[in-house]
Amino acid sequence: MDPRTFADEVPTLMIRITVLGLGHVGLPTAVGLAELGWRVLGTDQDAAKIASLQQGRAPFYEPGLQELLSKHLQSGRFVPIADSSAAIRAANVLFVCVGTPQRASGEPDLSQVETVARTIARNLEGYKLIVEKSTVPVITAQWIKKTIERYAKTPTGASLPPSPVRAAPVLSEAEGSASERAAKPIRAATHGEPGQAVRERAVLGEGSEAAQGNPATTPGLEFDVASNPEFLQEGKALHNFFHPDRIVCGVESERAWEILRAVYEPLHCPILRTDLNTAELIKHAANAFLATKISFINLVADLCERVGADVTKVVEGIGRDPRIGMGFLRPGIGFGGYCLPKDLRAFVRLAETQGVDFALLKEVERINQQRAELFLKKVRQALWVLSGKIIGVLGLAFKPNTDDIREAPSIPIVESLLAEGANLQLYDPRAMPNMQQRFPEQEGKLRYCSSPDEAARGAHALLILTEWEEFRKLDLSRLREQMEVPILLDGRNLYDPASVRAAGFEYISVGR
Ligand SMILES: NC(=O)c1ccc[n+]([C@@H]2O[C@H](COP(=O)([O-])OP(=O)(O)OC[C@H]3O[C@@H](n4cnc5c(N)ncnc54)[C@H](O)[C@@H]3O)[C@@H](O)[C@H]2O)c1
Repeated sequence: MDPRTFADEVPTLMIRITVLGLGHVGLPTAVGLAELGWRVLGTDQDAAKIASLQQGRAPFYEPGLQELLSKHLQSGRFVPIADSSAAIRAANVLFVCVGTPQRASGEPDLSQVETVARTIARNLEGYKLIVEKSTVPVITAQWIKKTIERYAKTPTGASLPPSPVRAAPVLSEAEGSASERAAKPIRAATHGEPGQAVRERAVLGEGSEAAQGNPATTPGLEFDVASNPEFLQEGKALHNFFHPDRIVCGVESERAWEILRAVYEPLHCPILRTDLNTAELIKHAANAFLATKISFINLVADLCERVGADVTKVVEGIGRDPRIGMGFLRPGIGFGGYCLPKDLRAFVRLAETQGVDFALLKEVERINQQRAELFLKKVRQALWVLSGKIIGVLGLAFKPNTDDIREAPSIPIVESLLAEGANLQLYDPRAMPNMQQRFPEQEGKLRYCSSPDEAARGAHALLILTEWEEFRKLDLSRLREQMEVPILLDGRNLYDPASVRAAGFEYISVGR
């Protein structure tokens, strides 16, 4: 079924969702859930972000995001609000999508997650399912539970005893608080639709542990925590949302399971049920494995260069084996972004704290950290003296189709080239405003350009650092005519070497 028709076919029933943290994960998730037909509130501690959303502007670039945001601001199914407490009180399913940046030790800084847990604790009214979507180390869900118990107040003002959290009936219309009753479902349930029975049972608590006679927690302070790690890739976030390979739900109660199943049911994809720790571990293991594939193929590329082999053919030769697969076997200047580098370090640290020496992953990181420097060596070998040379740079985002430059390989490369006295002409279709904040323009040293042609003008070399589709289609002959010296250093293997050389370039790529 086309996901765009879900909005018309899925009843929202009693599930009301709030997404906490409207960044690269939270915002696509919020508008994606709205597209599935759910009623979604979104909140963020960043007042400027909320203001931008309320004015209808997506605060960052992601394909299709602006359109879906406009659609659901209009439909009223997505409402951004600044007041986190009100947003929490008005919902019974809370998706936690805040950041988990890295500390100097490599461990994730979980302070944003703790802050959210404390805010939830202070605003528990009736049952809530707290869905951890942020990438976090194992046992974070347990900490969220403990934190909520610690900071939640009973109706008399006393703190909750630190007891294990158990299931209790999900609120029904009659049982909900005033604010919850105020947040009416946008449509009544339809009848006879596949999965409706499951959704209704989930909402009403039938079939839950509570309905089966398990004891409830303190009345009015009932909650479950679930782990539902996010696997989306920036640049494809909405595509990934609507076409997931799998959804992982770590749960401790039938009720949490049924609610999550109901939320995701319109996507018709495999949903893997696990316990909390397993779900948390799956996310780190997935990213660690992807990072391992990249570092592996990067070393194979180095070897190919030494022996005169072609790494692109090696990738095809091994990747067509379904046990290996083609994905993430792209040699280049290494992985960056907000996920792989920090998640890899967090996983290594987690293993260390558990007495497991994940030496394999330490090596994966070490290999990755060398990639930018290896590329710079090629630049120096090609240009000899860098000082005073004009170098055009195409691509600054850590990957195509995003304006995100967090941990982008372009950052150390630009830093080194500037330090060595090169004059840089930078171009990226989307990421220049973010890069400008990090590297402001400097007269005669660093300039942002409005096109690839302008970046190439008068240059002694042109570097490709991000594999934007737009760069694949460049008119190479025209580009060469702009340049003082036609040297093309391609850190992403965008082109067929024979055609680039035929266009008159000295061409240096990776592993071939
Ligand atoms: N970016 C990705 O591709 C990706 C993919 C999968 C998983 N993840 C994980 O998802 C999580 C979020 O990543 P992101 O890229 O969206 O980060 P982000 O920095 O883009 O967004 C996080 C948002 O949370 C907000 N926030 C922080 N504290 C808050 C609070 N107390 N209340 C409300 N909002 C608060 C921030 O203002 C920010 O807007 C991280 O754990 C990340 O590792 C990211």
